[in-house]
Amino acid sequence: MSMLKLLSPAPRTASAIAAAASTMPDYGIDAPVVRRSMLAAGIVGAAFCRLSVTVTAFASGAAETAAAWFAVVCLLAALYGLGMGAYMTHWSRIGKLRTRERLLNFAGDVVPWTGREMVLDVGCGRGLMLVGAARRLNSGIATGIDLWRSEDQADNSPDATLENARREGVADRVRVETGDARALPFADASFDAVVSHWVIHNLPEPADRTRALNEMLRVLRPGGVLVLADIAHHRVYRAQLEAHGLIDILAHYGGWETRLVGVLSGGSFRPHALVGRRAE
Ligand SMILES: C[S@@+](CC[C@H](N)C(=O)[O-])C[C@H]1O[C@@H](n2cnc3c(N)ncnc32)[C@H](O)[C@@H]1O
Repeated sequence: MSMLKLLSPAPRTASAIAAAASTMPDYGIDAPVVRRSMLAAGIVGAAFCRLSVTVTAFASGAAETAAAWFAVVCLLAALYGLGMGAYMTHWSRIGKLRTRERLLNFAGDVVPWTGREMVLDVGCGRGLMLVGAARRLNSGIATGIDLWRSEDQADNSPDATLENARREGVADRVRVETGDARALPFADASFDAVVSHWVIHNLPEPADRTRALNEMLRVLRPGGVLVLADIAHHRVYRAQLEAHGLIDILAHYGGWETRLVGVLSGGSFRPHALVGRRAE
């Protein structure tokens, strides 16, 4: 083998990697602005921490003590920002794929999948739950509906969702529509399963969240299964669902790392899922 060949880059490997990446589904980064802000705060905190440590080397007395304390505060801020940013990245790239399978398994525990279901994913985004549900279908159809708000999920669009369905080999079982969770354009009792993952906390008004939940129950047939996963308002949702005849409810609160992040967020981030069956 010539020296030139040994030193040259391996285009076949690079193109193979690029080809592999282009066949992987991409379910996007959730809350991209928050994630960027966390990472930026972490980097700024680390820079100020480094600066403060340098200052302590040249200062003395009260100034040295103040600089040392400031360095500690900046270090904590850096760890918090970088840790939260890393968690959000890990969640968007890996964690939510595992969670979707877990949640769809819970749904199957409540009402076993037959493969013939009509499934609705409310706020489907780039198709995480939609495509996961479609993978469990044979003759059934999974429909996703969304307003495609890029501040809630990076680069979401009908095309991105359909592309993920294609990459997971279920494009023939997936439909997407544009519409609002608060006024679903579907007939009463027209779905066997309704799923919604990390969507309705985006509605700031409690009355809007109530309307969205009522809509999900309206389009769910009696005996059908609802999977509602979100990051806040767990007790309110559960009370409303019970009041509207959801039964056999399973609650899921994620693993230890999710609970830890919940504590570190001061309680503002509490991922949970409620899975239940609409009474006949
Ligand atoms: C954090 S993303 C989650 C997307 C997807 N369910 C997932 O788990 O990857 C929230 C999604 O809710 C959508 N959304 C927000 N408000 C909505 C509304 N009123 N009606 C329908 N979709 C909405 C956003 O466009 C976004 O795609």
